[in-house]
Amino acid sequence: MRIKAKKNFWSDKKVFITGHTGFKGTWISLFLKELGAKVFGYALKPKKKNNLYLILNLKNYINKSYYGDILDKKKLTKVILKEKPDIIIHMAAQSLVSESYKNPVKTFNTNCLGTANLMEIARNINNLKLILVTTSDKVYDVRNNKVFKETDYLQGKDPYSASKVCQENVVYSYFKSFFYKKKSILTVRSGNILGGGDFSDDRIVPDYFRAYFNNKKLEIRNKHSTRPWQHILDACDAYICLIEKFFKRCNDKNEISWNVSPKNKKNITVIKLIEKLNNLSNKKIKLSTTKKKYVETKELNINSNKIKKYVNWSNKIDIEQSIKLTSDWYMKFLNNKNNPYKITISQIKNYLLLR
Ligand SMILES: NC(=O)c1ccc[n+]([C@@H]2O[C@H](COP(=O)([O-])OP(=O)(O)OC[C@H]3O[C@@H](n4cnc5c(N)ncnc54)[C@H](O)[C@@H]3O)[C@@H](O)[C@H]2O)c1
Repeated sequence: MRIKAKKNFWSDKKVFITGHTGFKGTWISLFLKELGAKVFGYALKPKKKNNLYLILNLKNYINKSYYGDILDKKKLTKVILKEKPDIIIHMAAQSLVSESYKNPVKTFNTNCLGTANLMEIARNINNLKLILVTTSDKVYDVRNNKVFKETDYLQGKDPYSASKVCQENVVYSYFKSFFYKKKSILTVRSGNILGGGDFSDDRIVPDYFRAYFNNKKLEIRNKHSTRPWQHILDACDAYICLIEKFFKRCNDKNEISWNVSPKNKKNITVIKLIEKLNNLSNKKIKLSTTKKKYVETKELNINSNKIKKYVNWSNKIDIEQSIKLTSDWYMKFLNNKNNPYKITISQIKNYLLLR
């Protein structure tokens, strides 16, 4: 679809994003604003100053930003009934594996019960056509040397992954019980995301730039691990293409879950990613190996043949460009070279030209 047609589609749509104060939520909010959608957000108020939503001052660029807990059903109901969205994108989550070991019950509450709250409220919004829920590639019964497809068995080995499997089950049960032939409902399983403005703990890119700018060693757990890294703009684009496809008609059972991963022949290792970041930043960062705090799989591979075949979506930028865009964002921002909003919006605008 050309940009003009895309803008025509989005210009009259009201999109309600949960988790808009997070890394992905902030990027997709701006991406959708750029396409002309009306964007409303609901999430916890960020606790740390180093947060993309605050850095960009996102609340000034979207239609309305609400702070609240996904578990506060009364407040969430009031806000959704007020805004009457056509589309909901559910990103609010406890999103870190490491945190899920520290706070498993909080992780299950937020990711499972929070999703159930949202589904329950969505049942009563008549004009609502579609709900997209972001889950994870970690829902699969992860084993090395296997490439997972959507019909593979789901099983989480840690509280975060298990909460995402539970989230998938909540969504499926609402589809079968209430939404079938009434609303579209999609769960999207993406891999690890690269991109500027992620300041989360225990993620390799934010850890790299924290170490870089504080002249500290970068602690890594397993330098030979590989992940299906993809750029945040490709992930947003996949979500948007899925919504465009299924807004027009209700989906069926086989169209609920979608893998979204890059089409690299081989995923790169953690150490290769670090070398590429070093080359771009002209600095050889010192590494230290920490003991693994928890069980992590060495390889994680998912295939996205389904979204290619039925939605004609594939990634627009390869791993080299993804790492370059990510590095550019942090280097410009951390060296105070550009206004962070300008850096982000220019990456979005340039990405849209690739379509
Ligand atoms: N970033 C990745 O690499 C990645 C990969 C696969 C899947 N995901 C999934 O994508 C989604 C977004 O990830 P992210 O990286 O932007 O996470 P993030 O941690 O940056 O953002 C999480 C968002 O959820 C909100 N939130 C958390 N608990 C809440 C609660 N109780 N009530 C209301 N809001 C709450 C936060 O305020 C924030 O806005 C999550 O579902 C995550 O599991 C992320």
